[in-house]
Amino acid sequence: MYSQTLHTRINKIIEPLQLDIAGKDNDFYTRLIASATAIHSLYMEIYGNHEKGLACFNNLITGITMAYYERAFALRERDRMKLQKSAWFTSNKLTGMSLYVDLFADDLKGLQKKISWFEKLGVNLLHLMPLFESPEEASDGGYAVKDFRKLDKKYGTLKDLHILQETLLDKDMFLMLDIVLNHTSDQHQWAQKAKAGDSFYQDFYYTFPDRHIPDAYESAMPEVFPETAPGSFTWNDDMKRWVMTVFHDYQWDLNFTNPEVFLAMLGNVFFYANLGVDILRIDAPAFIWKQVGTTCQNLPQAHSLLRLIRHCVEVGTPGMALLGEAIVAPQDILPYFGEGLHKGKECHFAYNATHMALQWDMLATTDTRIMLNAQSLLSQKPKGASWITYTRCHDDIGLGYSDEMIRSVGFDPKEHRRFLKDYYTGVYTGSPARGALFGVNVKTQDARISGTLASLCGLEEALEMKDAFLIERAIKKILLMQAHAMFLGGLPMLFYGDEAGYTNDYSYRNDSQKSYDNRWMHRPLIDWKKNERTNKEGTLENQIFKGTQTLISIRSSLELLADESNIEWMDTENIHLAGFIRWNHEQRLYCIFNFSDREQSIHWLAFEKWGCTTNKMWDHYSKAIISKQEKPFGMVLHPFEFRLLQESKN
Ligand code: GLC
Repeated sequence: MYSQTLHTRINKIIEPLQLDIAGKDNDFYTRLIASATAIHSLYMEIYGNHEKGLACFNNLITGITMAYYERAFALRERDRMKLQKSAWFTSNKLTGMSLYVDLFADDLKGLQKKISWFEKLGVNLLHLMPLFESPEEASDGGYAVKDFRKLDKKYGTLKDLHILQETLLDKDMFLMLDIVLNHTSDQHQWAQKAKAGDSFYQDFYYTFPDRHIPDAYESAMPEVFPETAPGSFTWNDDMKRWVMTVFHDYQWDLNFTNPEVFLAMLGNVFFYANLGVDILRIDAPAFIWKQVGTTCQNLPQAHSLLRLIRHCVEVGTPGMALLGEAIVAPQDILPYFGEGLHKGKECHFAYNATHMALQWDMLATTDTRIMLNAQSLLSQKPKGASWITYTRCHDDIGLGYSDEMIRSVGFDPKEHRRFLKDYYTGVYTGSPARGALFGVNVKTQDARISGTLASLCGLEEALEMKDAFLIERAIKKILLMQAHAMFLGGLPMLFYGDEAGYTNDYSYRNDSQKSYDNRWMHRPLIDWKKNERTNKEGTLENQIFKGTQTLISIRSSLELLADESNIEWMDTENIHLAGFIRWNHEQRLYCIFNFSDREQSIHWLAFEKWGCTTNKMWDHYSKAIISKQEKPFGMVLHPFEFRLLQESKN
């Protein structure tokens, strides 16, 4: 609701900046006034009772205005173009890849020279894994940030990043970076000052003189890294205080009950926006609010803070979309898109972590039923918000979908998870997978899985056995997994190396800074000689690269694959076949995936139910026509085959 008092107050706050509010800055000013009440009420909900609450509100408005003020002309233009489209980020023409700059191309200058690799593949969004300064010996892959505004020198300089961003802009490509919102490195200057006794900065973190409150917190908090960083607090001898460290002991949790912390971190959000970031990955947002007696995850205040950030960004730097990296239980992920009156107004994106894990479930069990049961929940994603769809990323695969989903098909959740862990670590007889357990919790028996797409699909073992049949089978599985994730709806995010079939890299075991964390096995060092083999017809690299390239190009050519929440699951009447339809007003695409190692068939009736009466269907992937006359009893899919079908007119 509009408030004249607030309007007048805002005018006063921004007056010194002398904006041309009737002229060139009018769009910004309109956005600011239109969102003022929402920003104010969310802010007051969180910080209204804080002694610094009022003063910090003025700084918040100034911060938003400064972000706009400092925004480069080219970025303001890009904002304008994005705002003209209803949701630029749901386009079928976007395909991303996450990569470590140093492992991919040494540094940013090197990456600049590799842009043709992405162009050739069809990738037009680069997610660069954390680039900002981080202590080498305690870095968590860059997620322990020492300085949010200074690049780690191993990657280059801010200028190099700027040059890269300009190149991407010229080529109509997109940039995604992380903001590590929940914590800093214990070597960040805020932590250093806190250690030196500065109470202003001690208030940036959760610190306590004795175990009284930490014990109370820990009684309800699950452990994130139970093997390597048990507990959620660490004793700091400089301060003689316990400090909250939910992740590693060198990652200090920021105290967002303090508005100064919120302002400082929002300043960093805007700093990244003005570097030209198109999608900001908010790392671990589930953890940003803590309350004794709770799990300290997914609390309502964490959602309010995210909505507040979204409003501020929409006013100051509106072309930047937010991705909430909430890898939590299925029912807890959807609220990151916003709930109730706020539906669709929190994060633009969330990872479809549930579906990702369920793909791995299907591949191991050859059974699609648990995945199908999850869809009634996942389909509640609001229109105008989107998933990141993926098979692998830099993290482990969590098997966190609910026990209920597993029970609903008659399996015992504990046994079922044990089977999956055995399967993906190759312990299960006949499993070709080569993964490892990560984050084993001896108390609960929970564990997640590390390993590259290729190794988990059996390529590593097949290569060792020099078995051509098994190599071919592994390649089929890799492409099946990629195709399923890419056509599901959402923005596909490939993980570097998977496009050329990289298997696990075990060299991390010899590096003391990495050996405690087996996620490094699936973060390979790119060997450009191997990548070159993608050009040589028939090599495994060539087959995987070409397959991935074809999938990207089919996806970007079909507008019905833009994410309009336009997916319906088919009843294939065959538990081994997953089938869904993507549609728009004119056309339908039937996507069918065989998750088993046997031939499977789907009856034509399964298509007819959806009004598809044609005698011939065109498979975009194999570029073949499949005719009913030739296969009167239904369409046959070979082991691990998939089809992307449209009714054929001829
Ligand atoms: C996120 C990152 C993960 C990191 C953690 C702590 O989950 O994806 O790699 O360890 O946050 O920052």
